[in-house]
Amino acid sequence: MRLKSNAVITGVGGFVPDNILNNSDLEKMVDTNSEWIVSRTGIKERRILNDPSLATSDMAAYAVKDLLKNAGLEPEEIDCLIIATSTPDHLLLSTASIVCDKLGLVNAWATDINAACSGFLYAYTMGASLVESNRYKKVIVVGADQNSAIINYEDRNTCILFGDGAGAVLLEPTTEDVGLIDSVFKTEGKGREHLLVPGGGSKIPATPDSVAQKLHYIRQDGRVVFKAAIKGMTETCTEVLKRNDLEINDIKWLIPHQANYRIIHAVGENLGLPEDRVKVNIERYGNTTAATIPLCIWDFKDDFKYNDNMIFTAFGAGFSWGATLLKWGKLRTV
Ligand code: ACO
Repeated sequence: MRLKSNAVITGVGGFVPDNILNNSDLEKMVDTNSEWIVSRTGIKERRILNDPSLATSDMAAYAVKDLLKNAGLEPEEIDCLIIATSTPDHLLLSTASIVCDKLGLVNAWATDINAACSGFLYAYTMGASLVESNRYKKVIVVGADQNSAIINYEDRNTCILFGDGAGAVLLEPTTEDVGLIDSVFKTEGKGREHLLVPGGGSKIPATPDSVAQKLHYIRQDGRVVFKAAIKGMTETCTEVLKRNDLEINDIKWLIPHQANYRIIHAVGENLGLPEDRVKVNIERYGNTTAATIPLCIWDFKDDFKYNDNMIFTAFGAGFSWGATLLKWGKLRTV
């Protein structure tokens, strides 16, 4: 008989580009102002990968390299790599396989998943299930997006929101009572019209006309997404607490997807969680899509203590959303 394993986060890594695009820079590009951006979104600056020779795979590789260094592991020790991204280097072939090649993850199988802003949340639960199955011992899950590749910097509705970055976690088995506990996930395909990149896939392949119509950039109905995000994240957090017989006071940290400070604040308030238990770094990075949650883990890991109950929650294109409940364990040290 196999003992049941829990899947716990034992390593963390991250990467953001050095280049900063702040609100004053945006004032020179579109009809906006810093006061509007800060009061409506909480964002002061974002990182942009502006070296044309680099792409999402490079940011993911830097984050995984940072993780391996922090955890004291060699690339060949990794069994599996899952990258959540909506901005793969190429349409046909996974960004994860490029990262395996760049870093020498010679014993890992690798794949991408696309669930937009919920991508890391979904990939984390999928990676944890592989570990819990006892088939895989060291699974790395990455959230990485180069949003600047799909942003129209003439559209003030979207260009103020997004940035580039990558974050990574290592999952390993443990028989201790820590690690991922439960996830509540939802998908509502009817929401797709409110947030998408229309062109570039099989429905609208790239043509001179699709480029002229700017169909390869993000389009969204901000107000619809805003309301649905608050509702969706609040409801799934409430559901995951309820079905695990927990109260909000049992939760030490909420790590929400960083899309808009007002969304984050409303979700915390709806749940009744004091502000100092809700992790926020949106002012520095903006919305990095699949990278927001792992970048928060990377930024705030020193605050987390063994046995802390935490919830990760996200909402994104699809619509896709959810909440994952976990108990923090112990990171590997070198
Ligand atoms: N600068 C100045 N004015 C602006 C800007 C800007 N950058 N953008 C819009 N405005 C104007 C609008 O034109 C509008 O003017 P009007 O009243 O004359 O028509 C006014 O500001 C208010 O616009 P709203 O769209 O109502 O502003 P809102 O408060 O909803 O904020 C925002 C817009 C920031 C996009 C918000 O709706 C939002 O964050 N939505 C969530 C979108 C999101 O995060 N999507 C990312 C992916 S999904 C996810 O991560 C959850």
